[in-house]
Amino acid sequence: MLSKRALNLKPSPTLSLVAKAKDLQAKGHDVISLTVGEPDWATFKKPSEAGIEAIQKNITKYTPANGTIELRKRIAENAKREFGVEYAPTQVTVGSGAKFIIFAALQMLCNPGDEVIIHSPYWVSYPTMVELADGVPHIITCGEKEGYKLTPQQLEKAIGPKTKAFLFCSPSNPTGLMYTKEELLAFAEVFRRHPNVVILSDDIYNRLVFSPNDRINGVAPHLLHVAPDLKDRLVSINGGSKSFSMTGWRIGWAMGPQKLITAMADYQSQSTGSASSISQHAVLTALAHCDSDIEETNKTLLDRKQKAMKELSRVKGFKLSDPPGAFYLWVDIKSYLGKKFDGVVIENDKMFGDILLEKYFVATVPGIECGNQGYLRLSFATSVEKMKAAVDRMVEFTSKIEQA
Ligand SMILES: Cc1ncc(COP(=O)(O)O)c(C=O)c1O
Repeated sequence: MLSKRALNLKPSPTLSLVAKAKDLQAKGHDVISLTVGEPDWATFKKPSEAGIEAIQKNITKYTPANGTIELRKRIAENAKREFGVEYAPTQVTVGSGAKFIIFAALQMLCNPGDEVIIHSPYWVSYPTMVELADGVPHIITCGEKEGYKLTPQQLEKAIGPKTKAFLFCSPSNPTGLMYTKEELLAFAEVFRRHPNVVILSDDIYNRLVFSPNDRINGVAPHLLHVAPDLKDRLVSINGGSKSFSMTGWRIGWAMGPQKLITAMADYQSQSTGSASSISQHAVLTALAHCDSDIEETNKTLLDRKQKAMKELSRVKGFKLSDPPGAFYLWVDIKSYLGKKFDGVVIENDKMFGDILLEKYFVATVPGIECGNQGYLRLSFATSVEKMKAAVDRMVEFTSKIEQA
């Protein structure tokens, strides 16, 4: 019955892990989930009130498929403030979440066989989204040696005649690591030598940067800060989910070259139609009035990160990198692989994660889902108490792991 596309489709591994954790919870187990990519606090007050106002004032109808003009104008104004570049409102499209926006961009860019360069560790959905657009994910592995970040030499080497686009995220999901101005400038020099490569810059975490010293105009360093000449082939993707804690409101957007943005808007008009009018109204308020909430968020996240790292230092053999942004810890667990738990050899990170979930009720994302074997991604957008309890269980689990 199913199409080839359906048969090849892999469900989002993080969402399936969440489902497994929920299943265990439903059976009465006290599951602590460190899997999910969303803050555990409520949507800020002002956008929440704006959402209620939208319902009360009957702002509840279809909007243009690419979003209301007010919201697109506001997004363009913020881009001028943050990146120092001008976009016309027609160069902005608003859709139902950044995930769908990335999906739509890839659908509108790729012909069969076109390559999209992605570097690992990557956000779990990128490769499948490329495949669904009939493209080929060209994965560059960035391990410990590269500090889990792409080097300009690796980028240069990966670009070939089939390269259509480069898709990346800084600060990164899953590592929280972020490219500096200097590193981005080195990428820009590579891109200038390859004028046909489109750059998809997933900026969804770019306001979640803990130290003000690491930010430029309130956001993470961006290619547009150092190379505004790339603007005509760069797509900046963002949304309300992470910075405003609005994951359920489903608003994302892209700014970029007119032709591509128009094609994406047309694609949206024939698929999802407009994003929720209520959510758009709420995000309009968030973009205008939530700077101080984001400042608070960054303080909270910094505190949680520091406490989580301190807790995790109790687990012998775990190696962590210290992320400047987002809300993930990328933990090297390789010292436990090849060893035995309950008589069974832990062959890989997925097995480690499965035992941790099934026997100790802590859900995590195995690194292999992000392209690198031997890691766990832990979200610290969860309470300090929960993180502490989760680490207690990790200490108990790892203390029972023996040499094979
Ligand atoms: C790197 C990255 N990009 C995009 C998204 C999509 O966000 P949303 O669809 O909620 O706007 C996520 C969410 O987890 C993400 O981690």
